[in-house]
Amino acid sequence: MDAPCAIVGAMTVAVRLPRRKKSRTPEVAELLAWYDRHARALPWRARRGERPDPYRVWLSEIMLQQTTVKAVAPYYARFLSRWPTIDALAAASLDDVLRAWAGLGYYARARNLHTCAKVVVELHDGQFPSDMAALRALPGIGDYTAAAVAAIAFNVPTVPVDGNVERVVSRLFAVEKEFPAAKPVIKQLAASLLPSDRAGDFAQALMDLGATICSPKRPACALCPWPDACLANARGNQEMFPRKAPKREGQLRCGAAFVVFRSDARVLLRRRPDKGLLASMMEVPGSEWTHDFDQSRAQRSAPRLRAKVQWQRLRGTVRHVFTHFPLELVVFAAQVPRATTAPKGARWVKIDELRDEALPNLMRKVLAHALDRR
Ligand code: ADE
Repeated sequence: MDAPCAIVGAMTVAVRLPRRKKSRTPEVAELLAWYDRHARALPWRARRGERPDPYRVWLSEIMLQQTTVKAVAPYYARFLSRWPTIDALAAASLDDVLRAWAGLGYYARARNLHTCAKVVVELHDGQFPSDMAALRALPGIGDYTAAAVAAIAFNVPTVPVDGNVERVVSRLFAVEKEFPAAKPVIKQLAASLLPSDRAGDFAQALMDLGATICSPKRPACALCPWPDACLANARGNQEMFPRKAPKREGQLRCGAAFVVFRSDARVLLRRRPDKGLLASMMEVPGSEWTHDFDQSRAQRSAPRLRAKVQWQRLRGTVRHVFTHFPLELVVFAAQVPRATTAPKGARWVKIDELRDEALPNLMRKVLAHALDRR
């Protein structure tokens, strides 16, 4: 690729102007040829000559948001064997879906997944639409997922741009603009690469390139199908892209969690509110999580129980990092007699059966912490 570098705007943006599609073709052809040889065999991916199943494509895309192929694979296999079709998923109970999702994080996605399945069955006769606007109108489907499903399942000429693709494109064109302002620029540049056929393969080739070769650190440029086309490679500063403004960490929040052990080997759990962080998931009772949490008053947030309760502050803390903030919890534990009833909105769950509960990773850490120190 030998198009001149164009300076767009003043100082901050230096991108190569997209060349005409015709002259782009050799690079795209290189990428598709590379994909034909090296495409990852992923469980949701149609093999060559097979027609992609929109249900599988959609399910995988929802699961893959914000997480890795490795983390998703067992969940995808379990979902698909339990709910092999969209009709089966739509007929499932939300609780079962949340339970099967537990551990994947971002639980609002599981709720939307279930609602989306019902909407597709009820409004679209169980068939995913191929039209971008109709896909975008479905619950839990944003711009990226609409483009990914349209391209991969239906070969609609569009490029889904996720973090991996942003990295590939920002290096290919050495986009100097910083995130997040660079996003629309990168989207436009990605679209300029779109070939007139094989939109689904093109999208997946970019994803694979980003996931396997064009990694954030130490990209394997020697194996890349675009060694000459890539401007960052030519300059030798690949790792400097995408350009990002220095990140400010979310401020630490703190709180308390209360693990109540009943003498018949059960613990007290309650469901979180339907909206917000970890919506509808299960948790042990706890305080609010705040920047100015006062440990000396932590026990004020303890659950009210009929039995006389002696809280023991367990040594250590549980730390967890959410997307927007880190969290540190102190954990209190107590033992209560078998006859103790659960307060309103809570229930006793056998310790042996905790794995079947829709518990987010944070709560699994809290329970493990309490069980270890009991
Ligand atoms: N990441 C997001 N969607 C993907 C897909 N369909 N294949 C591989 N990695 C992905």
